[in-house]
Amino acid sequence: MKADETHGLGYERVDDDPNVGVLLATMDVTAGWEATRRLRAWERHQLRLEPGQRLLDVGCGLGDAALALAADLGTDGEVVGVDASAEMVLGARARARAATYPARFTVGDALKLDESDDSFDVVRCERTLQWMTDPKAAVAEMVRVLRAGGLISLIDTDWSTLEINVGDDDLARRVRDAMRTERRRPSNIGRRLVGLLRDVGLERVVKTSATQTWDAWDPDESPAPDGCFSMSSLADDLVDAGQLEAVDREWFVSMIHTAARDGRFSMALKMHAVVAAVPPTGL
Ligand SMILES: C[S@@+](CC[C@H](N)C(=O)[O-])C[C@H]1O[C@@H](n2cnc3c(N)ncnc32)[C@H](O)[C@@H]1O
Repeated sequence: MKADETHGLGYERVDDDPNVGVLLATMDVTAGWEATRRLRAWERHQLRLEPGQRLLDVGCGLGDAALALAADLGTDGEVVGVDASAEMVLGARARARAATYPARFTVGDALKLDESDDSFDVVRCERTLQWMTDPKAAVAEMVRVLRAGGLISLIDTDWSTLEINVGDDDLARRVRDAMRTERRRPSNIGRRLVGLLRDVGLERVVKTSATQTWDAWDPDESPAPDGCFSMSSLADDLVDAGQLEAVDREWFVSMIHTAARDGRFSMALKMHAVVAAVPPTGL
């Protein structure tokens, strides 16, 4: 992967992206993040899935999280994955061929699910709300297809928590301030997951969080820290947010690269997970 291939990586329109292969490959890397694995393990514990249940994964990507849960539902249960990207769905279907439990993956929009009311026991949605124009409407749509007593699980990132430490407080502050300002998408949605569930009438919410950390990175081996964007892409973001002059772009990138080569680079990012139940009497 070249540095320019990580430029502007985005998951709103995966299939139109010239770097679609990078977007798909990045999914496997981020699935392997320690924070992702911890939150998925927490989610599985909270959901206490039972054989025969039906689970919907909205914005399922390559389907790995849904397929990992399929065994808990047994041969009488079913996993359904929906994703806006046909490329993602193709990848998920390929992985599902090796699965021994029922799994179906379809192209669809989180804002208009092609599923009946009250038809799932569990709906999950991971790192997808941050790419949506109307996350609240998406959550309402997820609740629509949940049966009374069903569970909803949301996992997402809070990019406003991104910390880069290369021993330069001014640089760290610029990154922090740029990431706190949402531009064009709800990138800080992680911290708002509880509020989103309350907005649709779900009051009893359990939550947790995990911080993904990068303690080392060799910019000569890989253009970006594992599963992340390149520093050139981050520099563009800072310019866009008014935290960096365009003429200082090269300075910013080379400062971080030099620090990383010298073993003075670390980065941290917080992710959140929430689970709530629809009341037994429905909403
Ligand atoms: C960062 S990926 C996360 C994939 C998967 N949930 C995971 O955690 O590995 C975001 C996914 O959301 C999908 N997506 C974005 N907008 C969507 C929408 N409106 N409806 C359904 N899927 C959407 C993208 O195609 C992409 O596969």
